Amino acid sequence: MYNKILQIKSIEHLNDAYFVIGIELGESALEILPGQFFEMKRPEFAHPMLRKPISVYDVQGSTVFFMVKKLGKGTQQLSHLKAGDELDVLGPLGNCFPVKDGSMAILVSGGIGYPPLFYLKKQLETAGKTVYWLHGGRCNDDVFPADETWTDDGSCGKRGFVSDGLSAYLENVTPDVIYACGPQQMLKAVHQLAEKHQVPLYVSLEEYMACGIGVCHGCAVKVKTDCEIGVTYKTVCKDGPVFDSREIVWE
Ligand SMILES: Cc1cc2nc3c(=O)[nH]c(=O)nc-3n(C[C@H](O)[C@H](O)[C@H](O)COP(=O)(O)OP(=O)(O)OC[C@H]3O[C@@H](n4cnc5c(N)ncnc54)[C@H](O)[C@@H]3O)c2cc1C
Ligand code: FES
Repeated sequence: MYNKILQIKSIEHLNDAYFVIGIELGESALEILPGQFFEMKRPEFAHPMLRKPISVYDVQGSTVFFMVKKLGKGTQQLSHLKAGDELDVLGPLGNCFPVKDGSMAILVSGGIGYPPLFYLKKQLETAGKTVYWLHGGRCNDDVFPADETWTDDGSCGKRGFVSDGLSAYLENVTPDVIYACGPQQMLKAVHQLAEKHQVPLYVSLEEYMACGIGVCHGCAVKVKTDCEIGVTYKTVCKDGPVFDSREIVWE
């Protein structure tokens, strides 16, 4: 695991909101699995104090890429990086998407749920699976290549929620598995559809995080157990971020 300051190899701005950072990790890059993430910050800034969790978007040779959306201070600071600048990174962290038996997988992403599914798609296609990807976002800037795209405002692709697209698609096709990453309400809607059609679903949760290593419990998520109370908590950073959707208590 890396817990060090590394130099940025590349930064590419995709549009006003999104950019892709590349860092060189040597041979260990090849061991990184889809769903895993790194925590990162610019070492020269005292605020924000904590590193920000960002999923692995792609691995090409020994270079690892992260696709980031500018939101608040931490991601704004990352967006001003230039090749050669320093980045404080911790990772790879978390578990990964399980690759299941069967030949057909559906991917469903919303907004910044796109990056981990991009890397997963590569892994699934290498394993010979057929993949159909539905991606949704608020507007044009949030949309990236997929088989089907949706926007809330209709500025790109179809107007509506990506879960509407999934609902229609599942009327005609029964996949072996669904993988999803995006906002909580989108994941809940995808979970309900997966249950209706009895398809296994694995979700990657993007909760708020602090330590990123299972110590602070700042990223706790409610899950079902067999015990008397019926629920307990798991940490998204250490037990996740990928969970079987049937395990989660969807509220
Ligand atoms: C496991 C994991 C993987 C992630 N992968 C990516 C990725 O690949 N690319 C990417 O761009 N982002 C990703 N995120 C989200 C990213 O970590 C946050 O956008 C980032 O921490 C925001 O930091 P900030 O300092 O820019 O904004 P802040 O000042 O911390 O927040 C700005 C605004 O965004 C909201 N916000 C911050 N974090 C979250 C969150 N996790 N969920 C919902 N709202 C939030 C805040 O409430 C606030 O309104 C991931 C998060 C997790 C937990
Ligand atoms: S962020 Fe601290 S336990 Fe997950």
